[in-house]
Amino acid sequence: MSQPSLPSTLGLSRRNFMTGTVSAAAAPLLVSSAKAEAPAAAGPELREPVVTSMRINKQAYELSLDTRTSLLDALRDHVGLTGTKKGCDHGQCGACTVLVDGKRVLSCLSFAVMNAGKDVTTVEGLASSDGKLHPMQQAFIDHDAFQCGYCTPGQILSAIGCINEGHAKSEDDIRDYMSGNICRCAAYPNIVAAVLQARDQMKGA
Ligand code: FES
Ligand code: FES
Repeated sequence: MSQPSLPSTLGLSRRNFMTGTVSAAAAPLLVSSAKAEAPAAAGPELREPVVTSMRINKQAYELSLDTRTSLLDALRDHVGLTGTKKGCDHGQCGACTVLVDGKRVLSCLSFAVMNAGKDVTTVEGLASSDGKLHPMQQAFIDHDAFQCGYCTPGQILSAIGCINEGHAKSEDDIRDYMSGNICRCAAYPNIVAAVLQARDQMKGA
């Protein structure tokens, strides 16, 4: 499959990236030889975008990103996948939970460049190509496990990770291992019921 075209705001091409890398590598030499004249000359080169390749929902992406860009912001602002939510940007709410190589990750606390070469799954990648919902998505609907829906993508990804980790053996287990995902609408009892239903439908439960 051909690569998705990248938004024009993504900036530099691979060629420009290489040029930027060379500039950054050369900068310390320039600074040491011309220290007296231009002591602050190295600054901008250190902020050159870095090309980061990763697979998102089974599609290959090559993103040109400031190294300070979080995986969350890369997904939302650079790839256009806004299903992953920003509730706190501090690792406290779980709304930004995605799966990276099958494991739960708070995307607000992970730099995008740290995920080079990895497989990222967001809520947009869960339904099958014919539109059939993932068992966890269907279970959330069946059990009315959301209200405003803002925490829901993170809850669903976290619940899938929770089951895959083998941490959904009992209701208490689920409450414990889902406690990193906050729901201000207090859908917790229904979320537990949904996870129990999906657990029994998912392989490896
Ligand atoms: S937005 Fe990442 S934990 Fe809240
Ligand atoms: S459904 Fe509203 S915060 Fe969870």
